[in-house]
Amino acid sequence: MKTIIANWKMNVGVRESVALARGTLLALRGRRVIPEVVICPPFVALSEVHKVIAHSAVQIGAQNVFWEDHGAFTGEISARMLTELGVSHVIIGHSERRENLCETDEMAKKKVAQALANQMNVILCVGETAQERTAGTERERVRTQLAHALSDVRLKSHDRLLIAYEPVWAIGTGQTPDVPDVLAMHEFIRSVLSDVLPNMDASQLRVLYGGSVDGTNSYQFLREKTIDGLLVGAASVKLNQFKEIIDATSEVLDAQKSV
Ligand code: PGA
Repeated sequence: MKTIIANWKMNVGVRESVALARGTLLALRGRRVIPEVVICPPFVALSEVHKVIAHSAVQIGAQNVFWEDHGAFTGEISARMLTELGVSHVIIGHSERRENLCETDEMAKKKVAQALANQMNVILCVGETAQERTAGTERERVRTQLAHALSDVRLKSHDRLLIAYEPVWAIGTGQTPDVPDVLAMHEFIRSVLSDVLPNMDASQLRVLYGGSVDGTNSYQFLREKTIDGLLVGAASVKLNQFKEIIDATSEVLDAQKSV
């Protein structure tokens, strides 16, 4: 199986989100095998988008969550509120939040705990900056992010946690790492996951790639067995691009099926 997460970020309002959700459903229609698709609209559009995808296989995710259940936390949104809207997934630890809102690994840890306690599926983003890669400390960085955010986690099912490896320097820049580099980092991530979650079979946990994925480069990542899917930002709000990514995913899934 391959999972495609569409992170619409702050790029679309309610009306555009509804149109995009309809377009996404059309892009999936008539395929032999469909990938798992999770669309993550801005908070304000979650409810309307949920109506559009309600009777389809597409799932809906939030781009953030707060770590408390309720209370005096102006502007924040709890996991319980999200599940009320039919939201099944949540992106945690995205580098744009780490950078713009000073989110820390400790905050990611509290958010992961809260999301899991509310039966949500967590998409935890990890990845190094350009400086860390130049300094050769990218593995250290990713290990710290994973080990901290997952230190208290007791998972019951492999489905509940997805890791998105997103090198910060690849996000929104048009630059992507070479596939062998992504494969090496994915292998490393799985080795950290087996340390951090000893009761889980790390080979069964999904590890995705994200960062400047588009219609033309998606296939090279998707065809790799150990890349379980993609987290797509900018290209997920361009329907023609997103359709090309779905086409590439279907091609890979069809090929796997006929083996
Ligand atoms: P991008 O974003 O595809 O626009 O690089 C990916 C992400 O931020 O998750």
